[in-house]
Amino acid sequence: MEITQEEKAELIQRALEVRQYAYAPYSNYAVGAALLTESGDVYHGVNVENASYPLSMCAERNAVFKSISHSHKKFKAIVVATENGGSPCGACRQVLSEFGLNTQVFAVDGEGMLMLETTVGGLLPDAFRPQDLPTD
Ligand code: THU
Repeated sequence: MEITQEEKAELIQRALEVRQYAYAPYSNYAVGAALLTESGDVYHGVNVENASYPLSMCAERNAVFKSISHSHKKFKAIVVATENGGSPCGACRQVLSEFGLNTQVFAVDGEGMLMLETTVGGLLPDAFRPQDLPTD
């Protein structure tokens, strides 16, 4: 079920707010994410970079891992806020797909302007999913 306009506006606001806490001294590309769970909770994430570049972690995955750590595995929507409204990376699409393809995905720019509105399934067609693993 789609989230309400109020939920969407609130989630956009939260993603914009948390973006200021991004640790992105190498790329200078600050990302904030706000993830709405089925239970109505919101988990935030920011990108956290490292001097050893490949160890950096995206905002979306940090939000997902935080939510999972609180035992919330069902997601309604995620908003990603960046300077230019960039779309979630492939790794984040894959991690989100683990928990459902119907999660709504919104990307907004630094002013909160909506640049993308889709679902995880829309971003990752033919996703490799848990069900694809053989069972014995
Ligand atoms: N980044 C995210 O946080 N999420 C994405 O979906 C795309 C990329 C971060 C990783 C890195 O810290 C910076 O943006 C530039 O790639």
